[in-house]
Formats: sequence, C-alpha cells, structure tokens
Amino acid sequence: MTQRRREDEPVRIAAIGVGGMGANHARVLASMKGAELVAVVDADHDRAQAVADVYGCVACTDVDQLPPVDAATVAVPSSLHAIVGVPLLRQGIHCLIEKPLATTVDDCHALMDAATEGSAELLVGHIERFNPAVQQLAEIVDSDEIVAVAARRMSAVSGRISDVDVVLDLMVHDLDIVLALTGKSVTDIVARGINGPHGADHAIALLSLENGAQGTLTASRITQNQIRHLEVTTKEHFYVINYPSQELLIYRQGRIASSGDVDQKYRLDVNTEKVFVRRIEPLAEELRHFLDVCRGNAEPKVSGAAALEALQSVWQIQTILSAATPTEIQAA
Ligand SMILES: NC(=O)c1ccc[n+]([C@@H]2O[C@H](COP(=O)([O-])OP(=O)(O)OC[C@H]3O[C@@H](n4cnc5c(N)ncnc54)[C@H](O)[C@@H]3O)[C@@H](O)[C@H]2O)c1
Repeated sequence: MTQRRREDEPVRIAAIGVGGMGANHARVLASMKGAELVAVVDADHDRAQAVADVYGCVACTDVDQLPPVDAATVAVPSSLHAIVGVPLLRQGIHCLIEKPLATTVDDCHALMDAATEGSAELLVGHIERFNPAVQQLAEIVDSDEIVAVAARRMSAVSGRISDVDVVLDLMVHDLDIVLALTGKSVTDIVARGINGPHGADHAIALLSLENGAQGTLTASRITQNQIRHLEVTTKEHFYVINYPSQELLIYRQGRIASSGDVDQKYRLDVNTEKVFVRRIEPLAEELRHFLDVCRGNAEPKVSGAAALEALQSVWQIQTILSAATPTEIQAA
C-alpha cells in the first residue's frame, strides 16, 4: 500500500529516461518546492551521469537500481512506457507517464491495471492541458456550445528520432484537447496522410463528435515553420489560442450596420478581446499537479482512461491511413 507523504515532507521522485523530454522533467523537479529529485535513470549511462551531475542526484541505468522513491516520471521511448512503468506502479510508485500513454491497447490496460494493483496514481503527460491559455479557455467556454474545433501542430524535420508516426507523436495532443474541451466522444473520422520512413509525417483528420460538432486536425513534422494553434467556434464566439505564446483571443461579430448606406452595409463590426493569461511553464504546472496527486490532494487531471480515449482515435486514424493508398512526396 502506498504511503502518502506528509505535507512538510518532500515527495521523493526519480526521472526515468532523461533524453529530450526527461531532462526537462529533471530540471523542473530539481527546482521544485515539495519535491526531492533522488535519482535519474537512463539506459545510456553517460547521459544519466551527466544529468545527475547537474542536479546532484544518483545516476542509474536501470530502474532495478533505484533507491526508494515515492514517485517517478517516465519519459522513455513511447513503445517502452509499459515495460518501464508497470513494475513501478505495481510497487506503489506513483507515475507520470509521458504522452502517448502507450503504443498498444494492451500496454495501456497493463499500466492502468498495475496502478490499481499497486494503489498507485497514474497521470499521463498531456502537457497542453496545463497550458494556461487552454486552462483559461476551458474555464470560459461552454462545452455544449462548441460547434467546431480546429488544431494545427506543425514542425520542421528535426534531429529528434521518434519511434512513432506524427499522429501518435503530435496529433494525440490535440485529440486529447478536443475531447477534454468538448466532453464529447468521437463518432466518425476521415483522414489522409503523407508517409515518411516511420509512418505518416503529415496527417489531416476530420472528426465528427457525438453532438454533431466537428474537429479538423492537422499534424506535421515536415513543415518549414513551427505552428501550434487551436481554434474553437461556438455560436457566439471564435476563440484562438497560440499554444507556445500562451495567447488567447476571443472574437465576436457585432451587428452589421444597416443604414442602407452602401459603405456601411458591408462593414462588419468584429470585437476582439485579448484575454489576460498569466504565463507559466506548462511542464512546471503539470509536475506541480503531479505532486498534489502524489500527496492525495488532487485527482489526476489526465487519467489513464482519458489518455486511452484519445489513443482510440489515434489508432482509428492510423488504420484509415494504412488502408489508404500511401502518399509519398517524390523527390524532384
Ligand atoms: N509532452 C510533450 O510535449 C513531449 C515532448 C517530447 C517527448 N515526449 C514524450 O517523451 C517520451 C520520450 O521522448 P524524447 O523525445 O525525450 O525521447 P529521447 O529519445 O530523447 O529520450 C528517451 C531516453 O530514454 C532512454 N531510455 C531508453 N530505454 C530506456 C529504459 N529502458 N530505461 C531508461 N531509459 C531508457 C534513452 O537512452 C533516451 O535518453 C516519449 O514518450 C515522447 O512521446 C513528450
């Protein structure tokens, strides 16, 4: 049975997998009140040691070598989340598992079952839920009023080698946001993609939600710009979020002047409101929430079940893409 830490005792925590994302976990945890970064684990010894040296903690190359901890963040390649996370959860170690929760439905269930078995908390690292602009939007938008959500998450080719396609790597963020903002499930999907060496590198999905609302998602890792936008249409408003700059704009169309004057007749009165958003690092917000969950002060904001629901759409999109005639852009 997991022991809860007293409020005045730091949560002893390990960062497992300290590559691109996990090194950020270690950085934020090391500076966070209420947490003690006890160890980092990476299969690459030099990498583990280099990160441990920066933060003055123990370096391990395998979770079996971990000193006693209350909690762990898991940022190993997505296909290894269950192999690494299941034994930890079974031992009662609370885990923040990076998104996507896993790459197969069996692995997702294995992680959720292990959490139940070990009475451990499982939080999934859907970081955009902790973006303050998204949190602000979730507070002000009425989910029943949403008629359409559009998201674009596009990046250039990077040196980062992913073991998964762009749908599982990037689009999963926006699928989770669509489900969380609308509270509705997906009933139908149409999708198209452009293939690269590891499956789709550019994908477009049109979603129908149970109340008839529509989602239009584009994810790309072959676009020569970084774009991360979310647009939400309701009957009365149009909301636009720029995820990285944490900007939230609200548009509302006023009355069309009807004086009969030709110039006036075609003038639209669109009001734009820039919402004040207190900028914070989403990862710090996510890890603070994780500490609250570890202490029993909060329920996981992104549960295993919520992450699995987004993954069901991912797998449906992947099935559609694999059945479609593969599109590959030929070099000129
Ligand atoms: N939330 C986000 O915005 C976000 C961003 C990037 C990556 N991620 C997720 O984080 C995870 C890692 O991605 P990344 O880009 O950091 O990958 P990465 O390849 O940079 O890092 C993975 C690290 O895990 C280590 N590793 C591999 N097997 C291991 C094992 N069995 N035990 C311990 N360490 C092991 C590797 O040596 C490597 O250092 C993925 O699931 C990815 O989807 C999330």
